[in-house]
Amino acid sequence: MYKFLYSLLYYPVGGPVEQEEMKKQAAEKAVQYIEDGMVIGLGTGSTVEFAVKKIGEMVKGGLKITGIPTSLKTKRLATELKIPLIDLDDHTTIDITIDGADEVDSNLNLIKGGGGALTREKIIAFHSKKVIIIVDETKIVKGLGCDSFLPVEVTKFGWSATKKALEGLGCTGELRKIMDEAFITDNQNYIIDCDFGKITDAEALEKEINNIPGVLENGLFIGLADEVIVGSKQGMMTLERQDIVQ
Ligand code: 5RP
Repeated sequence: MYKFLYSLLYYPVGGPVEQEEMKKQAAEKAVQYIEDGMVIGLGTGSTVEFAVKKIGEMVKGGLKITGIPTSLKTKRLATELKIPLIDLDDHTTIDITIDGADEVDSNLNLIKGGGGALTREKIIAFHSKKVIIIVDETKIVKGLGCDSFLPVEVTKFGWSATKKALEGLGCTGELRKIMDEAFITDNQNYIIDCDFGKITDAEALEKEINNIPGVLENGLFIGLADEVIVGSKQGMMTLERQDIVQ
């Protein structure tokens, strides 16, 4: 268990401006790991946007890297910023991936997918030598599922049957909608947001969910994060997998 983790849990939650500042802090720390010649996985979300913008400045200043985006949204931003991009199929090893998260627990396990990019994010994290997660302090939780729904990407075909099967695992599921229309992922699928409450065995649940036909992937990221950089009002904190005491 981390010595400092629980002290973070009791910090008062910051207002929006402070929260943006904490995200930026974490993002700007993460990009310091980037070196010339690296292939960088570019995550998705508002925290990662700070990192991508900073990488854009670094590229403008002469840094030579290539990026692999985890979503069409990140791809658009990286293209605007003239960050050279390649496809995962053309380069299957990634040096560092920088991504955000919706929840981080004391074992550095995550819930991701608030932005709906969880499948590409998980593929890219899996093929990365190092995965750095950047969050503000509000994302640190006592248990996964306490604050966020667990997003599950499912095929459009049979989605309500898939939702029923997911509910059989002990959650209530909701088809994600934007302005009354079903949210469509970059892979042209749906998202079911699942409320499991506090998840006690995330490793088992990740597998059980993925065993349901029609499920493409779920937002539990178990053992994938190597380092979590937490922006907080008190400054920054880095949590590393190697420091976890079981
Ligand atoms: C997208 C994600 C995001 O990384 C996660 O939702 C965090 O987003 P933000 O930095 O905007 O809070 O998993 O699928």
